[in-house]
Amino acid sequence: MKLQTAQIQVPENFIDLGRGDPDLDLLPLNFLQQAAQNRLSQSDNEFLQYGTEKGDGYFRSAFAKFLSNKYNFTVDIESLLVTSGISAGLDLLCTRFTNPNDIIFVEEPTYFLALEIFADHGLKVVSIQTDEHGLVIDDLMLKLKEAKPKFVYVIPTFQNPGGRTLSQIRREQLVSLAKEHNFLIFADEVYQFLNYTETPPNTLASFDSEQVISLGSFSKILAPGLRLGWLQTHQSLMQRITSAGMLSSGGGMNPFTSAVVRDVIESGNLEKKILYRSNKYLLNA
Ligand SMILES: Cc1ncc(COP(=O)(O)O)c(C=O)c1O
Repeated sequence: MKLQTAQIQVPENFIDLGRGDPDLDLLPLNFLQQAAQNRLSQSDNEFLQYGTEKGDGYFRSAFAKFLSNKYNFTVDIESLLVTSGISAGLDLLCTRFTNPNDIIFVEEPTYFLALEIFADHGLKVVSIQTDEHGLVIDDLMLKLKEAKPKFVYVIPTFQNPGGRTLSQIRREQLVSLAKEHNFLIFADEVYQFLNYTETPPNTLASFDSEQVISLGSFSKILAPGLRLGWLQTHQSLMQRITSAGMLSSGGGMNPFTSAVVRDVIESGNLEKKILYRSNKYLLNA
C-alpha cells in the first residue's frame, strides 16, 4: 500500500492549476543525489551540528555569489538569512514585527495561504486593488489615509494568483511610501527566477532599504520538499530577526539541507535547473 507523502494527490494526466506545486517530472533526484553524496563523503561533519542563527555561512557565501550574478548587483552575505521556505519566513517576520490586531495591507487578490499565516498571528487584513501593473498605488495612498499598516505584503513578480508583475515605477513609489509612512514591505519573490520570455524588474531587495524584506525560496526552482528559502534585508532589520528565540534555540534553519543545496549551487546545477524549466516551457509552447 502506498502511503501519502505529498500534500495533494493529483490524478494522472491532470495539470492542477489551483496550486503552485511543481510537476513531479521537475523534481531533480539526480542533482540532489550527487550533491548529498558529495557532502556526506567529506570529512568535515560540522554541518550536522546546530547551526548559526543566520544559516550556514558556506551556503550563504555560495548563494550570495549566485544571487549577485542573477540580480546584477552585489548581494552581501550578511544581508541573507536562511529560512525553511517563504511560509516559515513570513511566520518568523510576523512574530518579530507584529502584534495581534495590527493592520496589514495585501494585494487583492493575494496568495490565499499567506492569509492563513497572517490569521495565525491575529492580523487584520486590508486589501489593496491591483491592475495589470500590480498593486494600484492610488488605492494604497487612499487606504494609508484611513489606516497605518505594520507591513504591506506584495508578490511583485508573476503574482499568485494574478500573474501580474509590479512595474519598476510602482516599486519605486511603494518603497518611497513605505519610508514616508514608516511601514515595512514583505516582498514574496517566489517566482522571481521563473521568467520565460521577458526579464522582470529587479528584486525589491535591490532598493537596499530599511523598509524592505525580500523573501525567496527553492520551492519552485529546485524542490518544495527541501523546505529551504532565504530572506534578504538591511542590517537594521536583520538584527531584530536573528534575535528570534526560535533561531537561537534551533540553531538557525535547515543547516543540513543548506549544506546539500550549496553543492547544487556550486556545481552549476541550480542554474541548469532554472534554465531547463524555461526551455522545457518554451519547447512545449
Ligand atoms: C506566492 C507564494 N508564496 C509562497 C509560496 C510557498 O513558498 P514556500 O514553499 O517557500 O513556503 C507559494 C507556493 O505556491 C506561493 O505561490
